[in-house]
Amino acid sequence: MKARTSWDVVCTVEDLVPESGVAVWTEDGPVAVFYLPHRLPALFAVSHTDPFTGKNVLARGITGDLKGQPVVASPLYKQHFNLQTGRCLEDEDVAVKTYPVLLDGNNVRVEIPAVNKESAAA
Ligand code: FES
Repeated sequence: MKARTSWDVVCTVEDLVPESGVAVWTEDGPVAVFYLPHRLPALFAVSHTDPFTGKNVLARGITGDLKGQPVVASPLYKQHFNLQTGRCLEDEDVAVKTYPVLLDGNNVRVEIPAVNKESAAA
């Protein structure tokens, strides 16, 4: 059994939109990559799927700052999700999945857990 993750290239720097998100498709499902140029680190990756509706919309949400936390507001019912922890600010029982993300030259890489690939293959 291999318990490995992979750092998949999901897009390039040119694809990123300042203060906004882009949706990318990974083996772990759709992921929203956010680029907040005034922050350090400036990149965040969370599931693109809104947990309240199951719709793939979070990359289109408005980003902002709430109490010092970087957040995205779901375009549907406007819940805010912390981009670092995935936690919903209005409902602490709800969170979106977060992913480590980094810049590798011109490539944006997201760390995808290998677990899903294996269970899908089994
Ligand atoms: S990161 Fe630029 S205003 Fe929030």
